[in-house]
Amino acid sequence: MRSRLTAIAILAILLNLPLAAMAAGEVNIYSYRQPYLLEPLLDAFTRKTGIEANVVFARNGLAERLQREGRNSPADLVMTVDIARLNELVERDLTEAVTTATLEQDIPASLRHPEGKWYGLTSRARLIFAAKDRVEPGEITTYEELADPKWKGRICTRSGKHPYNVALFASMIAHHGEAKAQQWLQGLKDNLARRPQGGDRDQIVAIAEGVCDIALGNSYYYGKMLEDENQRAAAESVNLIFPNAGGRGTHINISGMALTHSAPNRDNAIKLMEYLTTPEAQTIYATVNYEYPANPEVPPSDVVAGWGTLHPDDLPLNTIAENREAAVKMVDRVNYDN
Ligand SMILES: [Fe+2]
Repeated sequence: MRSRLTAIAILAILLNLPLAAMAAGEVNIYSYRQPYLLEPLLDAFTRKTGIEANVVFARNGLAERLQREGRNSPADLVMTVDIARLNELVERDLTEAVTTATLEQDIPASLRHPEGKWYGLTSRARLIFAAKDRVEPGEITTYEELADPKWKGRICTRSGKHPYNVALFASMIAHHGEAKAQQWLQGLKDNLARRPQGGDRDQIVAIAEGVCDIALGNSYYYGKMLEDENQRAAAESVNLIFPNAGGRGTHINISGMALTHSAPNRDNAIKLMEYLTTPEAQTIYATVNYEYPANPEVPPSDVVAGWGTLHPDDLPLNTIAENREAAVKMVDRVNYDN
């Protein structure tokens, strides 16, 4: 044992590596989140623990890949956005339940799986954006009012099938029941200025171009548009509305993480999970993409805080996941996209 440690120490000196890095091992992450979002976090984690963090990034197909690799998968942790993707991992039985005192204390129950099969790390609010020059402040304050005939021909959204809208519609089902939610969705569809198309940012651009007066979109896109000189003017033409802030709260979705079944570096993965919920990591992760830290002890960045106060709907994200399928069928029944 002793001679092995000496050998590692000599090797570390020869390779000019910190001794901790050689002894502490590694952790492997499959990520739907872009590498630039994770890099600052993982660098800080490695500096603290010596554990090397390796990332495989993909836009699609990580669940299929995990399933194909089975017990031989090198992946320890999946990092992703959207409750639908986290839920997909659970439904395919690819995630391992893990609970620790730190994780349970740092992440509110509504933002984690009841058995610890996934944890939220950041949240994003689904906002209403409204033309500054055509919509009075206070004229619309809730999602429910999107179905009010006074908005006929004045609303833009992306596809009703997109996971961000599906999650919002699932929350409407959870709050109002399926019949009322469908009535609402039909009303929203009847108010659309054009066939659903593009991404959330395109709806804000459409407001700036006068195509519509209000739109649905995720909060961080507003920050990204202000950063982009080609989109800044469009962003500056809208007001941000936090729907239902005075009542049940604004619908949020999450980015999150899940431990895999196969995790060859399970202990290191749990160390990383716990690190990601600390105030230090939460601040880094939320700030880089204009999101809200899941840890309630950690405030959002000054820029994000300047947009208004988020009172999140405290409907458990797991309930939204459970209503997802019903929401997709409802979108089909009202033929939302056509
Ligand atoms: Fe997005």
